[in-house]
Amino acid sequence: MKVLVTGAAGFIGSHVAEALLHRGDEVVGVDNFNAFYDPAIKEANIDEVRASARAWGRAEAFRLVRADIVHDDLSSLFTPENCPDVVCHLAAWAGVRPSIVNPLIYQSVNVEGTLKLLELARHHGVKPFVFASSSSVYGARREVPFREDDRVDDPISPYAATKKAGELIGYTYHHLHGLRFFGLRFFTVYGPRQRPEMAIHLFARAILDGKPIRMHGDGESSRDYTYIDDCVQGVVAAIDRSTRVEDKDGYRIYNLGCSDTTSLRGLVSTIEAALGKKAQIEHAPDQPGDVPLTFADIRRARAELGYDPKTPIPDGVPKFVEWLKKRRGESN
Ligand SMILES: NC(=O)c1ccc[n+]([C@@H]2O[C@H](COP(=O)([O-])OP(=O)(O)OC[C@H]3O[C@@H](n4cnc5c(N)ncnc54)[C@H](O)[C@@H]3O)[C@@H](O)[C@H]2O)c1
Repeated sequence: MKVLVTGAAGFIGSHVAEALLHRGDEVVGVDNFNAFYDPAIKEANIDEVRASARAWGRAEAFRLVRADIVHDDLSSLFTPENCPDVVCHLAAWAGVRPSIVNPLIYQSVNVEGTLKLLELARHHGVKPFVFASSSSVYGARREVPFREDDRVDDPISPYAATKKAGELIGYTYHHLHGLRFFGLRFFTVYGPRQRPEMAIHLFARAILDGKPIRMHGDGESSRDYTYIDDCVQGVVAAIDRSTRVEDKDGYRIYNLGCSDTTSLRGLVSTIEAALGKKAQIEHAPDQPGDVPLTFADIRRARAELGYDPKTPIPDGVPKFVEWLKKRRGESN
């Protein structure tokens, strides 16, 4: 099978590309290596994907296209000889707080970019389409766990609104053009290659460097953290299901979380334990756009995708720390 993975140089995309290559699929990765965070990190991610592909004797099964999903013409990737069997659309501007500062880029990439890929898919007859949505669509709700059928009409950041918009336009393309659109609501994913501005990565670096970390709110805000290998297992299972499901079941939303919550205070303690070093904590007010709580009900993904997260946060954080130290050239 040939899979077009957008955002292939990013955190989740590079892992998805590797998992697909490992099991024998062909991958065409698209990424524009933008400067949302240091593009050198994305180059390093791609180097690792290529190194893995070489080690598995599958170097020729991976092709990288440096292109922008909004501004470049990607139709050559959909010609009969190149056409993917599935689109796995992970490229986006991620992150809640920067979306408040710069909502227009979020609209452009996350809404218009998604629409452009949906248009390519429908014009070239590619029906399976997997889309990276987000737990942020649940907004500031406190009734837990979050279920896919819950009302999600109150996004509290532009980022969340663009992800909800992606789910909505996906439904339209399913209805009008028969696309089999699977929207995956990721719940705070972490692990090797995690984006550098995300809390676990940010905190671990600061603690290692002896710098203070900023704890927003009272430390009781909670997240359902998902280890990258579990997330990837869910994405690959969704890719597979999107290729074989009947058209009538061709629109589905899935939560991909761990179905467990960890408070911010608990997270910091877990990172401290993994590093063997105490954090210097600076307290700061709650940040606009941040939700108080996320907690996934994953029964649907378990039943229909065989999704089976195996890495709770006390196991996943030490694995992340090990990777971080190795990348920084520090021994344990
Ligand atoms: N990491 C998480 O916890 C999390 C949670 C919920 C949802 N998501 C979603 O999952 C997806 C992957 O997230 P991630 O954490 O790997 O982020 P990431 O920023 O590491 O990866 C996204 C990639 O998309 C690329 N990209 C952005 N705009 C592009 C454009 N116009 N053209 C081509 N490429 C472009 C970026 O260069 C980047 O490499 C995103 O859609 C994100 O919104 C992530």
